[in-house]
Amino acid sequence: MSRYEQIQQQLIESPKIWLVTGVAGFIGSNLLEKLLKLNQTVIGLDNFATGHQHNLDEVKSLVSVEQWARFSFIKGDIRDYKTCEQAVEGVDYVLHQAALGSVPRSIADPITSNMANVTGFLNMLQAAKEAKVNSFTYAASSSTYGDHPALPKVEENIGNPLSPYAVTKYVNELYAGVYARTYGFNTIGLRYFNVFGRRQDPNGAYAAVIPKWTAAAIKGEDVFINGDGETSRDFCYIDNVVQMNILGATAPQEAKNEVYNVALGDRTSLNQLYQSIRDALIGKDIKVKGNPIYREFRIGDVKHSQADINKAKIKLGYLPAYKIAEGIEEAISWYINNIE
Ligand SMILES: NC(=O)c1ccc[n+]([C@@H]2O[C@H](COP(=O)([O-])OP(=O)(O)OC[C@H]3O[C@@H](n4cnc5c(N)ncnc54)[C@H](O)[C@@H]3O)[C@@H](O)[C@H]2O)c1
Repeated sequence: MSRYEQIQQQLIESPKIWLVTGVAGFIGSNLLEKLLKLNQTVIGLDNFATGHQHNLDEVKSLVSVEQWARFSFIKGDIRDYKTCEQAVEGVDYVLHQAALGSVPRSIADPITSNMANVTGFLNMLQAAKEAKVNSFTYAASSSTYGDHPALPKVEENIGNPLSPYAVTKYVNELYAGVYARTYGFNTIGLRYFNVFGRRQDPNGAYAAVIPKWTAAAIKGEDVFINGDGETSRDFCYIDNVVQMNILGATAPQEAKNEVYNVALGDRTSLNQLYQSIRDALIGKDIKVKGNPIYREFRIGDVKHSQADINKAKIKLGYLPAYKIAEGIEEAISWYINNIE
C-alpha cells in the first residue's frame, strides 16, 4: 500500500480539522473536494480576488450533504492578521494556497501581488505558529528557479528571480526557513510546476495556458502561442498536487522544514501541448480552428522548466498517479461540460 493510501485510510478513521486558504480558487477547491470526500472538517478562507463562488458550489454538488456540513467558509482577506487568527483557531493542518498567481499580473502590479503573497503569507505563518497547528503546508512555486540553467530542477539549486511574483514566492521560502530556525516552527513548501485540471479559470488576462487554449479552441477562437512554441514546461495534473498537499501536511518531522518540487518530472513543449489539446478535443468531436498564432515571447517567463521529483518521492512517498495525457483527457472533458 502506498503512503498516500495509508494516510487516506488513517484520515478517514481519525478525521482532522483543516484550514484551506484560497479555497474558492482552482487548487484550493480541489483540496476542499478531496478532504470532504475523506470526511474531514474543513475551514475555508477566501476573499474571491480570483476565486469564485461557483467553484464552491461545484464542490457542494460533488459531496454528500453530511460531508458538506463539515465545511465552514470565512469570506476574508489574508492581508488582515485578525482574519488569519480567526481562521487558524482549533486547526490541525493548514494548507495555505491563497495568493495572487501569474507572472504578468505581478509585472503589471507588483505592489498588490506583494501584499497578498508576502504580507498575507507572513500573517498566515505567524497566526499558524501562534495557534500551534500541527503542520503548515504552503504553495511555493517553480518560478523560484528563476534564471538557473540546470535541467531538471533540483530543490537546492535556484537562480535569480525573473519577476516580482517569483520574488514573492521566494520570500515565502525565506520566511519559512526563518520560522524554523527562530521559533522551531517547521513548514512544508510545495514548489508547484504548471498545475492544470478541473476548475482552473479559463477567463481573464492572466489565465494559465491550458484553460485559456482549451476554452478558446472550444469556442472556435484563435489560440496564441508566446514565442516559437518550443518553450517547455512540466505540466502537473491537479490530483497529483492534491496528493502532495496531503502527504506534506502529514509528513513525518524529519521531512518538514523542506521545500519539494511538485510536478511530473516530464517536459512538454507548447507545440506538443497544443497538439495534445487539439487531439483530445477532436477525439471528443469538437471542431478545432486552423493553426495557432505565434507571437512575442513573454518577459519574465523562463524558457524551459522540468522538475526532479526524487526528493518528494523519497521523503514523502509521492507517486504521481496522472501522466500528462491522462490529465489532459480529464481536464478537457471538464471544460467541454463547463464552458458556455
Ligand atoms: N496553478 C499553478 O500552476 C500554480 C503554480 C505555482 C504556484 N501556484 C500557487 O498555488 C496557489 C493556488 O493557485 P491557483 O492556481 O489555485 O490560483 P487561484 O487564483 O485559482 O486561487 C488563489 C485563491 O486565493 C484567493 N486569494 C487571493 N488573494 C487573497 C487574499 N488576499 N485573501 C484571501 N484569499 C485570497 C483567490 O481569491 C483565489 O481563490 C497560489 O499560491 C499560487 O501562487 C499555482
